[in-house]
Amino acid sequence: MAKVVAIVAMDQGRVIGMDGGIPWRLPEDLRRFSSLTSGHTVVMGRKTYDSLPTKYRPLPNRLNVVITRDAEKLRPKLPEGVQVSANPDEFLQQCKNGSREIQGEIVWVIGGEELYRLLLPQCDEIELTQLESSHDGDAFFPSFEDEFVLADEEKYPGFSFQRWQRR
Ligand SMILES: NC(=O)c1ccc[n+]([C@@H]2O[C@H](COP(=O)([O-])OP(=O)(O)OC[C@H]3O[C@@H](n4cnc5c(N)ncnc54)[C@H](OP(=O)(O)O)[C@@H]3O)[C@@H](O)[C@H]2O)c1
Repeated sequence: MAKVVAIVAMDQGRVIGMDGGIPWRLPEDLRRFSSLTSGHTVVMGRKTYDSLPTKYRPLPNRLNVVITRDAEKLRPKLPEGVQVSANPDEFLQQCKNGSREIQGEIVWVIGGEELYRLLLPQCDEIELTQLESSHDGDAFFPSFEDEFVLADEEKYPGFSFQRWQRR
């Protein structure tokens, strides 16, 4: 049975994105993202897939699953191996009950805002990079603190890596 974990970097004002991209550069976060998610399955909204640099699209060494309302239209445009789903709830249920083959044991929900809002209720944990800075943004991470508890934290200058577990 797959574990479902959201992974996100947000700033002091819950900003996660701006103009289709991420409004900061934090190499430590990118390295952690890559090391945690490699070998597993990543699920993302179509806009986040589009925002990935061509060089990292699809994300290597991971099963990439893109959520879109128009799967039939998108499927032929995607590289071989990238899966598409128009039904994110069903996709996660199938991963959890073992009826869908995935890579690794963890389904990583990697954004963006729409996907986090949809799938956070089904996530077991959140790997959060909490930035101490503030940025202009148009995409935000939803409130989760009532449903999850902080289980682990590593502090660094300007940011921290936090693991939150469902209460
Ligand atoms: N800081 C971080 O950790 C982080 C992580 C990821 C992304 N981001 C940022 O987040 C922003 C993108 O977030 P976003 O909310 O605009 O877009 P998104 O969640 O990446 O993608 C939205 C798209 O997902 C599809 N979708 C949404 N709900 C659906 C449903 N119920 N059924 C089927 N398909 C559905 C639709 O695709 P179609 O339009 O194709 O139908 C929709 O346009 C960017 O700025 C990105 O850089 C930040």
